[in-house]
Amino acid sequence: MRALLLAFLGLTLAACDATPGETDRAFQASGEIIAMSGGAGGAGNACFTCHGLKGEGDGVSSPRLAGLDQGYLQKQMEDYASGLRPDDVMTRVARGLDPDARRIVAAWYAGLPAPPAGASAAPPPSIWLTGDTARGITACAACHGTEGQGAGAGQPIIARQPAAYTLEQINRWKSGRRRNDPRGVMAAAVQHLTEEEARAIAAWLSTRPAAQAHANASASASVSASAAARPAASRETRRPDRSDGA
Ligand code: HEC
Ligand code: HEC
Repeated sequence: MRALLLAFLGLTLAACDATPGETDRAFQASGEIIAMSGGAGGAGNACFTCHGLKGEGDGVSSPRLAGLDQGYLQKQMEDYASGLRPDDVMTRVARGLDPDARRIVAAWYAGLPAPPAGASAAPPPSIWLTGDTARGITACAACHGTEGQGAGAGQPIIARQPAAYTLEQINRWKSGRRRNDPRGVMAAAVQHLTEEEARAIAAWLSTRPAAQAHANASASASVSASAAARPAASRETRRPDRSDGA
């Protein structure tokens, strides 16, 4: 499989002289090969085995990747690789790829259609929409949208992720294990959520229509690439954040 991949990357380079359409197609095909083969990390890291053949996720612990923002996906791959978002599985997977391969596979998943919409009319938990100033909880909807549809690269889509995955992320932010948002906003937002509130939010989000990121991903990807290029130490610095109204 590795030989096949290397041969393919060779083809991709050769295609640089060709028309833009062909280059795009070769780029996409390389992303698919990594997703199906695990790339240089080998078959044990093949993304589809956990994230599904269409990037739809496994409904439990592996999130959907299809149709998420390219810049967000790429940043997560860099953060797993650098250890800023440590995870037993994904840190190993991300380190098995070089930065180009991480970028290529992120772009491929971003280009896949979001899974079909579910049909639930459940109202959001009120804390999602309003937060609770008394406890310093900012409204999640302010950054993630009223339906969890996100608001551009920096504020990711979180609709239609498995409830167990979302709950795990909230708990990792609470405990400080996940701390890869540039301004420390997430740790502050979830710090005083009760377990019950976190569960209610995660369960509701899993029923939201799976939003698709807008196709202007190249702009957000370059923003995130420059963020990824900065040393981890500077990204971890907690600067006072005014944009969330705190
Ligand atoms: C053995 C199972 C497994 C394999 C193989 C795997 N993943 Fe994952 N992936 C996971 C799990 C579990 C998580 C959630 C980890 C966490 O909580 O941070 C995850 C999380 C992610 C995320 C974060 C998504 C988000 O919304 O924040 C990205 C991006 C990702 N994986 C991409 C990939 C890519 C690309 C590959 C292949 C090169 C891959 N994964 C291979 C299990 C896997
Ligand atoms: C001030 C903006 C802001 C607010 C308010 C906010 N978030 Fe976030 N959230 C972010 C950012 C930025 C990220 C992405 C960090 C990164 O790059 O990994 C994120 C990521 C997440 C993720 C992980 C997504 C994934 O795919 O792994 C979850 C889950 C989440 N937020 C839930 C919440 C909940 C629940 C609330 C309300 C209690 C909330 N957020 C409030 C900005 C915000």
